[in-house]
Amino acid sequence: MANNKIKRIAISTGGGDAPGLNAVIRSVVVSALNRGWECVGIRDGYNGLFLPHLYPNGGLIDLTRDKVSGITHLGGTILGTTNKGNPLKYPTKRKDGTMYEKDRSDELMRAFKKNKIDALVAIGGDGSLTIANEFAKKRLRVVGVPKTIDNDLDKTVITFGFDTAVSFATTCIDRLHSTAEAHQRVMVVEVMGRYAGWIALNSGVSGTADVILIPEIPYDIQKVAQKINDREKRGSKFSIVVVAEGAKPKGGAVSVVSKELGRAERLGGAGETVTKEIQAATGKETRCVVLGHLLRGGSPTTFDRLISLRFGAAAVRALDEGKSGIMVALDPPTVRYVPLEQATHRMKSVPLDCDTILSARDLGISFGD
Ligand code: F6P
Repeated sequence: MANNKIKRIAISTGGGDAPGLNAVIRSVVVSALNRGWECVGIRDGYNGLFLPHLYPNGGLIDLTRDKVSGITHLGGTILGTTNKGNPLKYPTKRKDGTMYEKDRSDELMRAFKKNKIDALVAIGGDGSLTIANEFAKKRLRVVGVPKTIDNDLDKTVITFGFDTAVSFATTCIDRLHSTAEAHQRVMVVEVMGRYAGWIALNSGVSGTADVILIPEIPYDIQKVAQKINDREKRGSKFSIVVVAEGAKPKGGAVSVVSKELGRAERLGGAGETVTKEIQAATGKETRCVVLGHLLRGGSPTTFDRLISLRFGAAAVRALDEGKSGIMVALDPPTVRYVPLEQATHRMKSVPLDCDTILSARDLGISFGD
């Protein structure tokens, strides 16, 4: 049923950027304008609404057809994004100088009202969609769009950005094969993915890695060394080891770089640790390459462009049908709606019995277990 009450919608992009964000923005804007709705973009997550004093020209951008023309293939986001200053856990100073996390969502709700925003399309990962779900509970009309290169959002088969990240990681692994073989080295490649091993698993299998270490399977470095030594005995004097940034040894912890109030902890160092341990255990020259933010850049693949455009249009259809508190989700061959509550209540890890893991084991790839 068409909903005539919507006149003006807002779009926000929050958390780490991912290829496909601009394609979603374009799709939402064109689909909304075609219904006669106005569209504004909130700058830098919710900061444009929440902290308008930071923006001399205003924290909202009028999204006209011109503004979204020619952006489908571009990486990044024309709205900007942030993974700092979560409004539900805003870092705030007490009188005594100590810091605490304050819920400032009511201030944002007032800002939505003041700016005559009838509905929100929130494009983000678990953090941004958890915030969006709070707005929905406070009766703002909200539809979420699942973004993250990590692919760790539940209730959707895939998030946009993941395919581009995996494709690029695979290309890098391909390139490392020739230099590893030429120098008879072990090359360790660390990839992002936070606490989920999707990027490492899919790029590692596609790039025919010899060892893949993911957070879901804590590793034993002796098992990793054994795999490399077995290859050596067979005459393969080089090895490729893909390490997820969240990989951890059996009985050990994830390698954390920093933890600040109001934002998720930063991971890093897993690849370097594994590199040193492999060199010590095998005596083989071992080098580390950290792909890091390179995985977030560049033009989205055709797959990511298409699902981004489909997600954006589906989000507007959902609002037009009177839906709220939902996320658009890929459930091939269709895009369906799932409650935001369900999409954000737990992380989607790699299932240990999934066929990609079974196939990797059949192909002789070691998970260090
Ligand atoms: O969630 C996306 C992601 O790229 C993770 O894979 C990574 O751990 C994190 O963001 C990095 O965030 P930042 O941009 O703050 O370094």
